[in-house]
Amino acid sequence: MTKIGVLISGSGSNLQSIIDAVKAGSIDGEIVLVISNDEKAYGLTRAAQFGIPTKVIKHKEYTQRQAFDQELLRVLQESSVELVVLAGFMRVLGASFLAAFPDRVINIHPAILPSFPGTHGQGQAFTYGVKLAGCTVHFVDEKVDHGPIIIQAAVPVLANDDEDCLAARILRCEHKIFPRALALYCAGKLRVENRKVFISGIDEALLEDQFLISCPALS
Ligand code: GAR
Repeated sequence: MTKIGVLISGSGSNLQSIIDAVKAGSIDGEIVLVISNDEKAYGLTRAAQFGIPTKVIKHKEYTQRQAFDQELLRVLQESSVELVVLAGFMRVLGASFLAAFPDRVINIHPAILPSFPGTHGQGQAFTYGVKLAGCTVHFVDEKVDHGPIIIQAAVPVLANDDEDCLAARILRCEHKIFPRALALYCAGKLRVENRKVFISGIDEALLEDQFLISCPALS
């Protein structure tokens, strides 16, 4: 069973989806620690409700980014964490942190990468005027929102959407693909080769002829 450490900065709805999947037995893992860089993050309450240990490490208390990373690393290693999950964690992790967890840090981003990396991916996509938006679960490497992609999902952008309504539709999708990606990781089904992620033991036959088109046909 994989020991999972989850890093959050906010509401923690993705954390909740992971907690639910662990409880349902679909992820062969255990969340041993939730860390937030913001003591007001509601995700801390969610974790506590399920008896998961929590810790606040405030980035603002560190003048050097590396010192913040080192403290995160120390605390995660103290809990024997094997997989680090970034669930709405709004800090960039540096090279020395990532070197301690090679191919063992997974992030969710609210856009179809490599489009719209960085903050407010949903807002960037909305403003750009894309017809399909979505989300990406990926391994973290040294460049922001750049590592090997595990799962992506697309949702349509509708005429009456505003940014919040689109973000909510994307978030519902995040809650589906994030636990699914973690389940694959914990089942040992992911292999990274030349920055491509290969997934073993799944039936892709159904996907072959699938399309998501952003406009229905004229009736
Ligand atoms: C999610 O939409 C997640 O994709 C995004 O923050 C939100 C956190 O929501 N993450 C990023 O933008 C990372 N660059 P949550 O706290 O309810 O899970």
